Amino acid sequence: MTTCYEQIQQDLKANPKTWLITGVAGFIGSNLLETLLLLDQAVIGLDNFATGHQHNLDEVQQTVTADQWARFAFIEGDIRNLEDCKKATSGADYVLHQAALGSVPRSIEDPITTNQANIDGFLNMLVAAKDEGVQSFTYAASSSTYGDHPGLPKVEDKIGKPLSPYAVTKYVNELYADVFARTYGFNTIGLRYFNVFGKRQDPNGAYAAVIPKWTAAMIKGEDVFINGDGETSRDFCFIENVVQINILAATAEAEAQNQVYNVALGDRTTLNTLFDALKTALHECGIQFDKAPNYRDFRAGDVRHSQADISKAKALLGYEPRFRIYDGIGKAMPWYELRLRTEQDADS
Ligand SMILES: NC(=O)c1ccc[n+]([C@@H]2O[C@H](COP(=O)([O-])OP(=O)(O)OC[C@H]3O[C@@H](n4cnc5c(N)ncnc54)[C@H](O)[C@@H]3O)[C@@H](O)[C@H]2O)c1
Repeated sequence: MTTCYEQIQQDLKANPKTWLITGVAGFIGSNLLETLLLLDQAVIGLDNFATGHQHNLDEVQQTVTADQWARFAFIEGDIRNLEDCKKATSGADYVLHQAALGSVPRSIEDPITTNQANIDGFLNMLVAAKDEGVQSFTYAASSSTYGDHPGLPKVEDKIGKPLSPYAVTKYVNELYADVFARTYGFNTIGLRYFNVFGKRQDPNGAYAAVIPKWTAAMIKGEDVFINGDGETSRDFCFIENVVQINILAATAEAEAQNQVYNVALGDRTTLNTLFDALKTALHECGIQFDKAPNYRDFRAGDVRHSQADISKAKALLGYEPRFRIYDGIGKAMPWYELRLRTEQDADS
């Protein structure tokens, strides 16, 4: 039986659209770009390379045909600049707004820059997309919006107080999106991503996410640090599930709009279990890591447990995550192995 997602992919292939992806040189943005180009869509990409990389775009170019790559128009620009947003939005049918400064610790160290990208930039994108009259506006919200709410699993309408400046910015995005629907009749969909992982997630830098950071350390034979006792848990979500829900959201019927949705698996994996899973997956790629993890203090702003209830996304968007955490880790590890080996060869 054809799934909702497969049907939409067939429809898009038969009737291509023009998409704008902001943050296209980043992890999630470049994976969206790859899938959309493989579906013969026209894509405009906007990025200022704050945390994204040209090599992510180069890698996408290598995976698509020359004709598909010719359908991609890249604009180097900044969402903090309304003119850049207007230029990028011009002619777009669907907007997938991913550009933001991620990372809780970064926002604690520099709340002003995070605020500028994540709130001013978000507002600019909303205004530009509304004025352009795009058909849909899907944006990256965050599970950090659940803040200190103790309930598990997390259900969309029960949130607590934010625990970091980053969480404030993502919650403000939702408030603005709601107000734009009420005051201008401009429809949006917010996707509250839980911990996303997969190829092209940056393993380098002080703000790297846990899976790429540990993977890089294991491949290089370096120490792995666990913040807290390792029983902190997360609902890790493989990137291909995230790509699926973005495409479902962009093309959703009116009844499914002006909503936020959890994007995850509905599972919970502790950091200790994750450590073992990464070690095992790397072992299957021929990499042996024998060191025990180093435990250190809990990190400020982190929530203890996170697990999503994904029934709303299933019911209203037809979301059917195809990849469980171990499937995703198995797919991502060979990419990291190749990527980090190439980096090491370039350094030597
Ligand atoms: N990765 C996750 O687990 C996760 C979880 C929750 C929410 N999110 C959200 O998903 C989105 C994408 O995250 P990601 O993991 O791909 O991060 P990323 O850092 O790889 O990608 C973000 C991209 O946005 C670009 N960008 C940042 N500021 C910009 C600006 N002012 N103008 C133009 N471009 C700008 C960066 O250069 C980068 O390419 C973000 O909004 C993030 O907050 C991610």
